[in-house]
Amino acid sequence: MKFFIDTANINQIKEANDLGVLDGVTTNPSLMAKEGISGRNNVLDHYVNICNIVNGPVSAEVIATEFNAMIKEGEELAALHKNIVVKIPMIKDGIKAIKYFSSKNIKTNCTLVFSAGQAILAAKAGATMLSPFIGRIDDSSWNGIQLIEQIVHIYENYNFETEVLAASIRTPLHIVQCAEAGAHIATCPLDSILGLLKHPLTDIGLEKFIADYKKVEA
Ligand code: E4P
Repeated sequence: MKFFIDTANINQIKEANDLGVLDGVTTNPSLMAKEGISGRNNVLDHYVNICNIVNGPVSAEVIATEFNAMIKEGEELAALHKNIVVKIPMIKDGIKAIKYFSSKNIKTNCTLVFSAGQAILAAKAGATMLSPFIGRIDDSSWNGIQLIEQIVHIYENYNFETEVLAASIRTPLHIVQCAEAGAHIATCPLDSILGLLKHPLTDIGLEKFIADYKKVEA
């Protein structure tokens, strides 16, 4: 399973990249706003800065919701850097735009996915990646991981090439469950990635190894 980081924060992207296990980045308009990035030129520059840090796909989301405007915006984003993946919302014009970009070999990430039916449509349109929002599903007392399992199963039935990119991850356990469910990619906050490191027996064991080493050495 590939690891993407789900942030527009440059320091967090650098920290995750320095771990050596980072495969890409996802952003969205809310994450850009959280970093105070505003104005079209600043937004475009920020995407290029991210692409210059991480050697992998970087999702940049269109703001437009009408087909022609989505194409214009998506083409502008795709021209920024070879690593840019155009992020398109799961709406009717979005499906048309995904089909268009697929015919032009421009990579897409279909976002705001909450059902298997939406996942089928996006794969039929040729989406490169599909982002089911598992945390937001759990927030509404449905089961996000079950949706990942269902979509992976459907895609396997028909050899769809669209990669399942589990998004809206809240915890390290979500990451493990996504791996069990067969997600191709998990996009995670830095805290959830670092949370995978934690186990008290590792800390206790390491403390004892160091203490025992020091006894003999002394
Ligand atoms: C990623 O592509 C999504 O935009 C993101 O994971 C949404 O996460 P949230 O539900 O925590 O906002």
